Amino acid sequence: MPPQLTTDPERAVRVLRAGGLVGMPTETVYGLAADADQEAAVRRVYAAKGRPTSHPLIVHLAGPDRVDEWAADVPDVAHRLGEALWPGPLTLLLRRGPRVLDVVTGGRPTVALRVPAHALALAVLDRLDGGFVAPSANRFGRVSPTVAADVITELGDDVDLVLDGGPCTVGVESTIVDLTGSRPTVLRPGGVSRERLAELLGHEVASWAGTGEAVAPGMLASHYAPGCRVDLLPPGAPDDLVAARVAHHLGAGRRVGALAPAPCAHLPAAAVALEPLGPPEVAARVVFSRLRLADDLGLDVLVVVPPEPVGIGEAVFDRLRRAAGS
Ligand code: TXA
Ligand code: MG
Repeated sequence: MPPQLTTDPERAVRVLRAGGLVGMPTETVYGLAADADQEAAVRRVYAAKGRPTSHPLIVHLAGPDRVDEWAADVPDVAHRLGEALWPGPLTLLLRRGPRVLDVVTGGRPTVALRVPAHALALAVLDRLDGGFVAPSANRFGRVSPTVAADVITELGDDVDLVLDGGPCTVGVESTIVDLTGSRPTVLRPGGVSRERLAELLGHEVASWAGTGEAVAPGMLASHYAPGCRVDLLPPGAPDDLVAARVAHHLGAGRRVGALAPAPCAHLPAAAVALEPLGPPEVAARVVFSRLRLADDLGLDVLVVVPPEPVGIGEAVFDRLRRAAGS
């Protein structure tokens, strides 16, 4: 049986309490939610996504006041950021408290926490005694879902119920900030810009730039990837460069699309011009649906000009870079 769609948070709560999986709307992307206190339910999340259990999950909470139930030795700065930005697209990495199951963190000493800014998700969290884990509701490595129907396309009947909260208003995942080191570090750019974090913290925030075992294992070079190949040009690439690249792929007999912040002039007629990304906030909202569309259109290659990596444009740039596997 295909999963059911509902707008009733009470039904979602019943499914979660019974150990089921719910497609959950948030302001960033749709999540695949399970009760964070039930080990078997959390295991089902990894299985449904095809995700290795070494890639830990974010625990979603009803409010900033719940952080101390899940984290230990919470620094002041966590409370400050939480009060300022929650509910919202921010995830804080903290030392884990005793409540957190090993299966949630892959055995790590840390836990990722966030309070989502979506009325239906918060209605569910208000009724749960604890929290839910929710990775993006896509198969491992694929494009994140931003409408309820995408969740069904991705996961089919591996999800028990989908709570339809309409299209996601932010459109890219939360910004992950690691507060377990000597200075706050951005592990994943997202819905809260680096500039906004700097304003709140009173100093610039560095990005994690390590190699080897990734601190946030989901930050793989290839992720958020559609089936078609993404050929990424630099931000601001001129129209004639886009046209030349498109012509090159057409010459090799490929079905080619182009995606850029604004309409491209001089595109060869055989190419498919996708509706432009628009300014950065809009680009964030539509970027994943454009990648899905490229696949639905059966394109072999999508030539992409990303936005400048500034403000929320940094997250859009990051997702497009990973979609290109570069
Ligand atoms: O906006 C979001 O954050 C969405 C919505 C549904 O809330 N969720 C999301 O989850 O993007 P996911 O699982 O797709 O990405 C979570 C990222 C992964 O890169 C994971 O490795 C990292 O967070 N992460 C979670 N817990 C961690 C931990 N204890 N240590 C290091 N990284 C962690
Ligand atoms: Mg994801």
